[in-house]
Amino acid sequence: MLFRKLSLVPIPWRDHHAHKANNFSKTKETQYYHTHATFRYVLLIFLSSWFLTACFFFSSTYSRNDHLHFPNTATKELLPITCPSNLSIFVYQLPPEFNLGLLRDCTHLNVYTNMCPHVANHGLGQPLSATGAWFATHQFLAEMIFHARVENHPCRTWDPALANLFYVPFYGGLHASSKFREANHTARDELAVRLVEYLQTQPWWQKHQGKDHFLALGRTAWDFMRTTNGGPDFGANCLLNLPPVKNMSVLTVERHPWQGLNQYGLPYPSYFHPSNVVQMRTWQRKMIRSERTHLFSFIGRPRKGVEKAAVRDELIRQCNESTRCNLLICGSGGGKCHEPFEVLKVLSQSHFCLQAPGDSFTRRSTFDSVLAGCIPVFFSPHTAYTQYGWYLPVNGSAYSVYIDLDGSEMEKGKGKKSIEEELSKISSDRVGRMRRKIIEMMPRITYAHPNSSDVGFADAVDVALEALLKNARSKLGLV
Ligand SMILES: *[C@@H]1O[C@H](CO)[C@@H](O)[C@H](O)[C@H]1NC(C)=O
Ligand SMILES: *[C@@H]1O[C@H](CO)[C@@H](O)[C@H](O)[C@H]1NC(C)=O
Ligand SMILES: *[C@@H]1O[C@H](CO)[C@@H](O)[C@H](O)[C@H]1NC(C)=O
Ligand SMILES: *[C@@H]1O[C@H](CO)[C@@H](O)[C@H](O)[C@H]1NC(C)=O
Ligand SMILES: *[C@@H]1O[C@H](CO)[C@@H](O)[C@H](O)[C@H]1NC(C)=O
Ligand SMILES: *[C@@H]1O[C@H](CO)[C@@H](O)[C@H](O)[C@H]1NC(C)=O
Repeated sequence: MLFRKLSLVPIPWRDHHAHKANNFSKTKETQYYHTHATFRYVLLIFLSSWFLTACFFFSSTYSRNDHLHFPNTATKELLPITCPSNLSIFVYQLPPEFNLGLLRDCTHLNVYTNMCPHVANHGLGQPLSATGAWFATHQFLAEMIFHARVENHPCRTWDPALANLFYVPFYGGLHASSKFREANHTARDELAVRLVEYLQTQPWWQKHQGKDHFLALGRTAWDFMRTTNGGPDFGANCLLNLPPVKNMSVLTVERHPWQGLNQYGLPYPSYFHPSNVVQMRTWQRKMIRSERTHLFSFIGRPRKGVEKAAVRDELIRQCNESTRCNLLICGSGGGKCHEPFEVLKVLSQSHFCLQAPGDSFTRRSTFDSVLAGCIPVFFSPHTAYTQYGWYLPVNGSAYSVYIDLDGSEMEKGKGKKSIEEELSKISSDRVGRMRRKIIEMMPRITYAHPNSSDVGFADAVDVALEALLKNARSKLGLV
């Protein structure tokens, strides 16, 4: 019933219906309201909601099962902006060597890739559509998008005396990846050390020893926690081991599951960066109705290294052997799995999307999967459950499937559970409930377009800011 074909919705991975930027749409869900919105905008909102409703509901086979209980964007009364818990965020104007200055040498920001096309458009990368909502966004650039969003955020203050949260916009991930091959540890750590020295001279740092300060990093915590126990050197620096940084909150796309007590998981950026709630709702409706022709899918490439390779090889083997699985293998030369719309096409045509750990526990693909309304299947609790507490429901079984494929057992040729069998056992009722959950989660894991200061829904940055403020207050003993 839920998976019925819908002929009206043309190609699920292109936003034909997305409206031209309408930065004034509102919903009850958002905490930010404009004082100066005029009747003109209210009318515009009304007309665009009507238009979309007409497109998606009247001329299609609409049923109650598909219905998402979105607040009505047309009837919302406009109130003054109130930031959650009186959030007032100050953004440090750091010397350029810590952020924008790094971009000047964008060909050398990553030892494997030329980052110049990726750091364009505030880190959104190259545009993919005329509507301005889709970009070929690089997985490790959350730090740039976050910065651009906060700079334009309605709760930003220019007066540190009025601030209750302090953002230090260091592009630590870009810097780290430019130094992975630097053999001299002192040289590799230099910039992080200088950042901390700079902060400690600031009066607003000294006031609370940095406890109301935070960093947002686009790479995993492992890249900033070089171990001193003589293990292999993967190119990490020491940023997150520096004592002053331990007093801050640190957002990272992958936290250290055991040592990262001040680290909070931040979603990897996906390809969709809507400017307003209308674009968001349009996409959500499209994804709940997407025709899903495959039970499951896997996108990825085989990995070297014993245990990881065992899990991946097994997923690839099972997917290849099952007629109900869609397999997209990433070759070394790129290919379809680097084409955002090819990836979204596979994900949006599957009920379940396998998320094998990659080079580390987490994967950007988890967030691409949510964006495509595909239920993620995890094989490690650290791929999502121990990572993104601010973003994902506490109860993992409400939105995902966990399959325990023990890598070490598999090497010995044992413990091979059939993924197809496990997934077939799940009732279509439960699949429907999980899918609705996924689609409800979508706005919170999305990075809205940074040009839009008042997007009309709480995106990944809004969610982080609210949680960070709560965190800072509790560290300062204010709650
Ligand atoms: C926000 O500020 C107002 C006015 O200063 C105050 O009355 C209210 O208690 C504050 N709310 C929170 C959650 O701090
Ligand atoms: C390592 O880098 C530091 C800082 O750039 C420099 O002072 C030092 O001479 C370097 N050490 C070696 C062995 O090259
Ligand atoms: C961290 O905060 C504590 C107070 O809780 C303070 O004593 C300590 O000096 C701070 N650490 C640094 C490195 O600033
Ligand atoms: C999938 O199975 C076919 C037939 O057994 C085989 O030729 C092919 O190499 C397999 N592909 C992968 C990616 O394992
Ligand atoms: C978690 O969600 C599942 C599926 O919705 C439900 O059956 C289960 O009771 C929930 N568990 C808890 C502890 O809430
Ligand atoms: C965002 O703003 C920048 C600077 O104001 C501008 O150059 C760019 O074209 C804008 N992008 C979009 C998609 O509106």
